[in-house]
Amino acid sequence: MRVPGTIAFHDLGHVEEKFRDAVLEGLAAPAKHIPCKFLYDARGSALFEQICELPEYYPTRTEMRLLRHYGADIAAVIGTGAQIVEFGSGASRKSRILLDALDRPQMYVPIDVSRQHLRTSAEALARDYGGLEVVAICGDYTRHVPLPPPGPGRRVGFFPGSTIGNFKPAEAQAFLVSWRDRLSGGGMLVGVDLKKDAAVLHAAYNDAAGVTADFNLNLLARINRELAGDFDLAAFAHIAYWDAAEGGIGSESESRREQTVHVAGQAVRFVAGERIHTEDSYKYTIDEFRDLARAADFRAERVWSDPQHLFSLHYLSAV
Ligand code: SAH
Ligand code: AVI
Repeated sequence: MRVPGTIAFHDLGHVEEKFRDAVLEGLAAPAKHIPCKFLYDARGSALFEQICELPEYYPTRTEMRLLRHYGADIAAVIGTGAQIVEFGSGASRKSRILLDALDRPQMYVPIDVSRQHLRTSAEALARDYGGLEVVAICGDYTRHVPLPPPGPGRRVGFFPGSTIGNFKPAEAQAFLVSWRDRLSGGGMLVGVDLKKDAAVLHAAYNDAAGVTADFNLNLLARINRELAGDFDLAAFAHIAYWDAAEGGIGSESESRREQTVHVAGQAVRFVAGERIHTEDSYKYTIDEFRDLARAADFRAERVWSDPQHLFSLHYLSAV
């Protein structure tokens, strides 16, 4: 039996191993791109926490309100003694609201690629929830992640933040399919940002204080730190635009001039205006997301939303 207030920490070693290869491959492609999971080193995670406090970034506070307001309903659906497996747990702030609502949750399993942030957040949570077993897993949730054995209650995946929107819809479906069997007998609580007025979406990814720009450009700074890069950050601009045809926000870093950058000993040429695609943030209607979940063989059981229809929380049953 673990000492109350301590955690088990498993590092699956997925994190750094692929960074160099992914960056070199993505920067050599005709349309330059880098997978968005690499936005989250310690600095990226800290910047994301600042984004969550921005007046323009409504998703975090709206979802936290939903979790508080509908906590009893959610607890009734999940049941007693649950094992909560969180995908992309970050600071675990929303997990605390969920755990507070649940009836005697048995185990909390946060999974995240951002190693230090995961460790600090999981340790703080374990200290505050002495009776709860906490097993933190540093790894990529799109790869195979071994889980602790199930407990007395349901195993429920928790995927808040609309992080599922950072996948393309076909990848989101593949992600749900890949976890479906491991959640069998339980389900998945997923936060999904809703389609809305383009100006509201645009502002959420182009905040006046420039924190989202720093978050996006931190990827280039991370390349400088970890891959002997020489990106001049002042020579790149943050771009985030609503793509109505795709149904998502695209985030990119745009070269302000023609330039050559070096990464891990390789020269990478940019023409003026050329962009590196760094993130997609897809938005759904409630029905679109329920259809996607059904296509992944989940039952779209419950959905909660706010009066302004900014955000939605879905309980998908894998029973
Ligand atoms: N759940 C929190 C944090 C969302 S930010 C919230 O709702 O506020 C997205 C989180 O997912 C980050 O902490 C990031 O490190 C993590 N993440 C992104 N891609 C990941 C991947 N492929 N595997 C594991 N964690 C990932
Ligand atoms: C974590 N993820 C859902 C955020 C989003 O809205 O796509 C990351 C983010 N990117 C810019 N701002 C926030």
